[in-house]
Amino acid sequence: MTTAQQPPLSFPAHFLLGSATAAYQIEGAADEDGRGPSIWDTFSHTPGKTWNGDTGDIAADHYHRLEADLDLMASLGLRAYRFSIAWPRIQPTGRGPANPKGLDFYSRLVEGLLARDIAPVATLYHWDLPQALEDEGGWTNRATAHAFADYARIVGEALGDRVAIWTTLNEPWCSAYLGYGSGAHAPGRTDGAAALTAVHHLNLAHGLAVEQLRAVTTNDPQYSITLNFHVLRGKGEGAEEAVRRIDALANRAFTEPLLRGRYPQDLIEDTAGITDWAFVEDGDLARIHQPLDLLGVNYYATTTVGLWDGGAPRQNNDGHKDVGGSPWPGSPQVEFHATDGPHTAMGWNIDPDGLEELLLDLHAQFPGQPLVITENGAAFEDQVTVGPDGSHAVHDPERVDYIHRHLAAAQRALAAGVDLRGYFVWSLMDNFEWGYGYSKRFGIVHVDYETQRRTLKDSALWYRDVVREHSGAVDASLTL
Ligand code: FCB
Repeated sequence: MTTAQQPPLSFPAHFLLGSATAAYQIEGAADEDGRGPSIWDTFSHTPGKTWNGDTGDIAADHYHRLEADLDLMASLGLRAYRFSIAWPRIQPTGRGPANPKGLDFYSRLVEGLLARDIAPVATLYHWDLPQALEDEGGWTNRATAHAFADYARIVGEALGDRVAIWTTLNEPWCSAYLGYGSGAHAPGRTDGAAALTAVHHLNLAHGLAVEQLRAVTTNDPQYSITLNFHVLRGKGEGAEEAVRRIDALANRAFTEPLLRGRYPQDLIEDTAGITDWAFVEDGDLARIHQPLDLLGVNYYATTTVGLWDGGAPRQNNDGHKDVGGSPWPGSPQVEFHATDGPHTAMGWNIDPDGLEELLLDLHAQFPGQPLVITENGAAFEDQVTVGPDGSHAVHDPERVDYIHRHLAAAQRALAAGVDLRGYFVWSLMDNFEWGYGYSKRFGIVHVDYETQRRTLKDSALWYRDVVREHSGAVDASLTL
């Protein structure tokens, strides 16, 4: 279906239409103003870990272009901006006193957003763990959860009068299973037991951080966490069992402790050969189980699973970079089938119905839980065209279509009664796409990494019109 055939969009008056980025993916300035190294600096500087050996050293140079980038956001009329705070800018070794220059950068960012009527949505952790903490075990070390709580308090004290929405963690699934299980992400460990330990310590870190934030914020903000749900389709004999296993590892390992205060019994049984879950201590689940004002939903594609018959080579099209290790501890019998197209440049299938299903499913499982789409978007092979007058343009009709169809899916979910509060397109600008380096462009704004020139893609112009025409004005403080 082309954009022209899409139904008209319209959203409730206070629906937040925004865009998202993450610190390591855009900021650059890796060595500046006292920032310490993170696991992503170490990982990206290790030969063979990222496409082309790309690193976030310079990225989109956002750290030096803050004001111009804020003006860019304002020119798009964004109602909200989701960014992340780099822990190693605030505490270079993950512990100890705050680095004032690090706090100052984010304070200027928040001020700049509010001055432009853009609601600041801050994520405390989008994967850039201070390397010094990894050296002590990283997320397999319970002490990291407590260090995270201290960091949350420092940031809360500095920005807790102005940030509208706090998100503790972005996609703890990736931090735990890609970081410690498959090895595709920093720190690149390949140990299933470590991955499951990390799952729990990340959940605990969330709970402890919310407690700290609540204690110090003064503007009555909203609290959230962002999860990357795996929307599963089953295929072949035993599909139900494959879906159950992956749903437990990928989805319920987070939603059950966060929203119900328990780990799923089937997850504990499926992984019994790997860990006895002794890292879950008395009182942990109560701390993890905090009321959430918003549950953040990241959605890009669906995943097709089945049970492997042990014959033909096991398929592992799980959408994540295959570097040898497994992000699915305890479930080697599950295989991941190729999805039906069309696909984006990531090889991810385009399936907006999956988003609608996910929202309806979460609404059914957790009635009354407000939801927000914190990421959705697509990478395509963008080309810059230069007009006779020297102007630059990027014609990206596939991305316009992708975003339009997913917004329409969100609208259908709203019409069906889902309490959905907003949508953030990933991403505001092209950036460092983790293991894929700069080879994948998700931005609605194109970045020329040689010159750092920003060019609004057609999708940015289209999104600007959507925001302007189909959503009401939002008070950026979200509190009045
Ligand atoms: C998500 C990440 C985000 C970006 C998109 C494409 O998993 O949260 O940083 O890489 O995928």
